[in-house]
Amino acid sequence: MKVPFLDLSRIDSELKEELKQKFAALLDKGVFSGGKEVDLFERSIQDKLNSRNAIACANGTDALELALRALQIGPGDEVIVPALTWVSTAEVVRIVGAKPIFWDTDEKGLLRADWVKAISKQTKAVIPVHLYGRMADMESICEAAKSSRIAVIEDAAQAFGTTRNGKAAGTWGDIGCLSFYPTKNLGALGEAGMCLTQDEKIAEKIRVLINHGQVSRDDHVSVGRNSRIDSIQAGFLNLFLGRFDDFQKRRKDLAKVYLEKLGGLPKLGLPEDILADDHNAHLFVVETTKRDELRNFLKEKGIGTAIHYPKIIPDMEPYQSQGDFPNARKLTEQGLSLPLNPWITEGEVNYITDSVIEFFGL
Ligand SMILES: Cc1ncc(COP(=O)(O)O)c(C=O)c1O
Repeated sequence: MKVPFLDLSRIDSELKEELKQKFAALLDKGVFSGGKEVDLFERSIQDKLNSRNAIACANGTDALELALRALQIGPGDEVIVPALTWVSTAEVVRIVGAKPIFWDTDEKGLLRADWVKAISKQTKAVIPVHLYGRMADMESICEAAKSSRIAVIEDAAQAFGTTRNGKAAGTWGDIGCLSFYPTKNLGALGEAGMCLTQDEKIAEKIRVLINHGQVSRDDHVSVGRNSRIDSIQAGFLNLFLGRFDDFQKRRKDLAKVYLEKLGGLPKLGLPEDILADDHNAHLFVVETTKRDELRNFLKEKGIGTAIHYPKIIPDMEPYQSQGDFPNARKLTEQGLSLPLNPWITEGEVNYITDSVIEFFGL
């Protein structure tokens, strides 16, 4: 049996047909930028996440950069970033000319609770990341940030659909950033992202920045950029959004099978909380000191896995920074993502769990 980590060509034929029809309709209309699909997408996300503003943009990295720019963060400023995340979180801080200050994560990969110790006079913002789809403790992060008068930019790129006490990921901070990269729980057929904010002034700034600093046709009031979403991607996303709840149920059902089958293996750490609302089951990350051996064993059995991520950011050449970061580092050495997506079957998950059990010799 061969089980790929994620194979998007497995999207079911009914949805594939709807996507083809959407493409054909937009091609016939000749609308490729802006228009009804973009408006509908933004409104639908506003409703789904209960966010006052939802501004679609070209990708999740841009969303983060736009957030920093809207908050006027730049040279001389510091931004606190977890040591373990996708590189974009730190990259954007450097792009705007500010300095990322790396802080360790907790054992699950979320910004460690004592991050406030990293606050200095130069600190302008903190970027908590809802890594693997698990939500950071936003109550305490927002409270601490407020009392220190710094902004919160939520990197919710991996956490679409995650909620904490009924409030959606991305709607807690001053600005929340989403990615609709194809591998995400809500993914486009290409690149797309979004900024969420509950503040009308910030929303207006982001809208202007996305569109060359233009407030109306040929009236440029600031130096912006082009980070508009493609109409076609918005159209595809509207279709995927209609299937989102079904896909989430499928992810959770499969995650439950993993937990049931792998529970009790003494040498394997599991994401025990993955079925809760504050986790969208984006990634199923197990932990073992024999990570590389397990990965090779599964590869020989035809099972694809992934590592999120093999390196902490402060160890990367362009982001070199001193510090121990023991929890983040441990995840880079011991974390392994097993296949979890709406397109794998229960039979495949059983094959994976049997193989993991075989590896541990039980
Ligand atoms: C945590 C995190 N931040 C930011 C991004 C950037 O999103 P994008 O790939 O859409 O630019 C991603 C996704 O790749 C991510 O996982």
